[in-house]
Amino acid sequence: MPIDRLWPDPASDLDDEALLAGTSIPEGRAWLRMNFIASIDGAATRDGLSGGLGDEADRRLFDLLRWPADAVLLGAGTARREGYAAMRLSDAASGWRMRHGLPPHPVLVLVSRSLDLDPASAMFTDAPVRPIICTVPAGNAEDKHRAERREHLAEVADLIETGADDADPLRIRAELAGRGLMHVHAEGGPHTFASFLGAGAVDALHLTVAPTLEAGAAGRIAVGEAVRTEMRLMSVLRADSELLLQYRRG
Ligand SMILES: NC(=O)c1ccc[n+]([C@@H]2O[C@H](COP(=O)([O-])OP(=O)(O)OC[C@H]3O[C@@H](n4cnc5c(N)ncnc54)[C@H](OP(=O)(O)O)[C@@H]3O)[C@@H](O)[C@H]2O)c1
Repeated sequence: MPIDRLWPDPASDLDDEALLAGTSIPEGRAWLRMNFIASIDGAATRDGLSGGLGDEADRRLFDLLRWPADAVLLGAGTARREGYAAMRLSDAASGWRMRHGLPPHPVLVLVSRSLDLDPASAMFTDAPVRPIICTVPAGNAEDKHRAERREHLAEVADLIETGADDADPLRIRAELAGRGLMHVHAEGGPHTFASFLGAGAVDALHLTVAPTLEAGAAGRIAVGEAVRTEMRLMSVLRADSELLLQYRRG
């Protein structure tokens, strides 16, 4: 399914290089962008999963947006619900990355307070690069199960404490930048997005508007405390009746 650019600079049937050029990350500074899909009426899921809303064009851009990232970040809820695999990119993506001076694969970064993540999942066991889990300290209230999970996860990932009760998004950004992971591409989910918005830690949003009305009780793409963030439109792509929008913080 061809992807056309409607604005700026209208162009038809963009190839991968044109899509990558049009979604590039500013050099020389830390940058965090989120990627989401929603139906026209704002549903972030169909049957409990975001994948149900996406089509071929959305999946193509979803994959391409990982290509230039130093790290791909997501909340533990999305990892659990969507059954994430290892952050292992295709040969084409790895080749592109190496030609651009990047390692073959980005680092998977998970955000979790509970540490309710399975160390035997492919996210960890098949990881080409050791993942990072941003979490909070044990504290007085840590139960036996969390302590055990912490111990097992420490064998398969770097656990970094980035806050007291909640992981602090600005500290996450600083910790990642300190490890040379300046360009963070985030794939959700809604509670993580709201938490990062609340901290002023989001620079950009890629939003696919799937051409459906879902009604029902599906949640939105940001769920948490109310916070207003003004955004500026950067580009509008179209694939058939679907819109692929790029915004930056205004
Ligand atoms: N439409 C889309 O593009 C899209 C994208 C992604 C996900 N989704 C959908 O969203 C649903 C999942 O929603 P969700 O809101 O639960 O996902 P989520 O934001 O990925 O996960 C929430 C979890 O992330 C952790 N977390 C987030 N911020 C934190 C912070 N500041 N400090 C500590 N931990 C933090 C916590 O993990 P612990 O519980 O482990 O403490 C929290 O329960 C799924 O149905 C998925 O399909 C949709």
